[in-house]
Amino acid sequence: MGIYLSQDQINNFHRDGFLIIPNYLDDDEIATLRLKAEKMVNDFDVSQVSVFSTVDQTKTSDQYFIDSGDKIRCFFEEESFDQDGQLIQDKMYAINKIGHALHDLDDDFHKASYKKELAGIARDIGMKNPLMVQSQYIFKQPKIGGKVVAHQDNTFIYTDPPSCMGFWMALEDATVENGCLQGIPGSHGDGDVQRRFLRNQQGDGVLFQGESREWDLSRMVPLEAKNRSLVLLDGACVHMSAENRSPHSRHAYIIHAVDATNDQWPVDNWLQRPPEMPFKHLNEEVGFK
Ligand code: FE2
Repeated sequence: MGIYLSQDQINNFHRDGFLIIPNYLDDDEIATLRLKAEKMVNDFDVSQVSVFSTVDQTKTSDQYFIDSGDKIRCFFEEESFDQDGQLIQDKMYAINKIGHALHDLDDDFHKASYKKELAGIARDIGMKNPLMVQSQYIFKQPKIGGKVVAHQDNTFIYTDPPSCMGFWMALEDATVENGCLQGIPGSHGDGDVQRRFLRNQQGDGVLFQGESREWDLSRMVPLEAKNRSLVLLDGACVHMSAENRSPHSRHAYIIHAVDATNDQWPVDNWLQRPPEMPFKHLNEEVGFK
């Protein structure tokens, strides 16, 4: 028996590499986060990202991405811009996600991220000292919400040994129809991370190191999650999500934490913070012993 989770839930998590916990959030929290995300997009100056279509497109967009570890930045669906970099639809529907430091820069997201309950759940599944490294608000818009190909989060958020954990919060029902998470049960036990996503030595670009493994996608199962659910996802678990071609959005808020200290954070991870804004420890922030 854990602090917040039953022994069955803990066992299932270790067996599958994921666990869906219903009713983790309440309706007020969800309304607050949705409203704040909408405001962030409304306030966002789209001319900041229109530059992606200029000559140095890849370099500029890489820099915009890799500099976002200590910021709140909006990222748009690829299909939303014309060849001249002009947004061809309402930005509220063109937005793909907001990342990657909402949890440390915005009061509402901070409150929803740093919770004693999350600290207890993390402890229940074996995390000793969760370090909160990344947050993302995912919109998965109706009709255009893009797919996310099969991957392990340890590829993108690496520690030695790998320790990334995803805390995925459903801000509305996530179904097969609107592109819910899918995962391969037990795949977290299949071996080490063979591929890493790094920032280059100049710090102005990103690259993959190592080969992608062939996953047996026929073993994917849908992780349908009701509104208010928390989905735990082991960083080694192979997962993906399909396009959303349905008329319904699929909003989610995701935090990634690692079980490590700042000292161990690899300098070649794409995600970096400046010294004046270090990652925070969940337990310390919420007073969890
Ligand atoms: Fe992922």
